[in-house]
Amino acid sequence: MKPNYSLAVILIPLALMSCLGSLSLSSASAQNNAAVTTSILDKQVMGKWARSCALCHVTGEANAPKMGDTKNWNDRLKKSEEEILQNVVYGYNSMPPLGYCMSCEISDFKAMIAFMAGGEF
Ligand code: HEC
Repeated sequence: MKPNYSLAVILIPLALMSCLGSLSLSSASAQNNAAVTTSILDKQVMGKWARSCALCHVTGEANAPKMGDTKNWNDRLKKSEEEILQNVVYGYNSMPPLGYCMSCEISDFKAMIAFMAGGEF
C-alpha cells in the first residue's frame, strides 16, 4: 500500500501553524500588558468609545485633547475628578454633553478617560 503523503502535507503545516499562532499570541499579550496596563477598555466600552469619543479625540477635532497626548491630558487631569466628570456629563466648550454617548455610565467615562490619557483616572 502506498503511504499517504497527502495527509502529512496537510497535518505538518497545521501543526506548525498552531505552534506559531500560540507563540505570537502570547508575546502580543505580554506587550499589551506592559504598554497599557490599566487602560484596556472592555469590548463593550471600547465600542461606545469608538462610536462617540473617537470622533473628536482621535484627530483632535475642535481642539479636543488627542488620544495619548499625555501632556495635554496630564494638564487636564490636574482638575478634580469631579470637575472633569462634570465637564463630560454637562459639556465643556466644544466638548458635547456626554460626549455623544447617551448609554455611557460614569464608570465608562472613567475608563475611557484613563484609556485616552494613557494612564489612570
Ligand atoms: C464633538 C467632539 C467631541 C466628542 C464626540 C467628545 N469630545 Fe471630549 N472634548 C472635545 C473637545 C473639543 C474638548 C476640549 C474642550 C476644551 O477644553 O475647551 C474635549 C475635552 C474632553 C475632556 C477634558 C475635559 C476637561 O475638563 O478638560 C474629557 C475628559 C473628554 N473630552 C472626554 C470625552 C469622552 C469620554 C467622550 C466620549 C464619551 C468625548 N469626550 C467625546 C470634543 C469631543
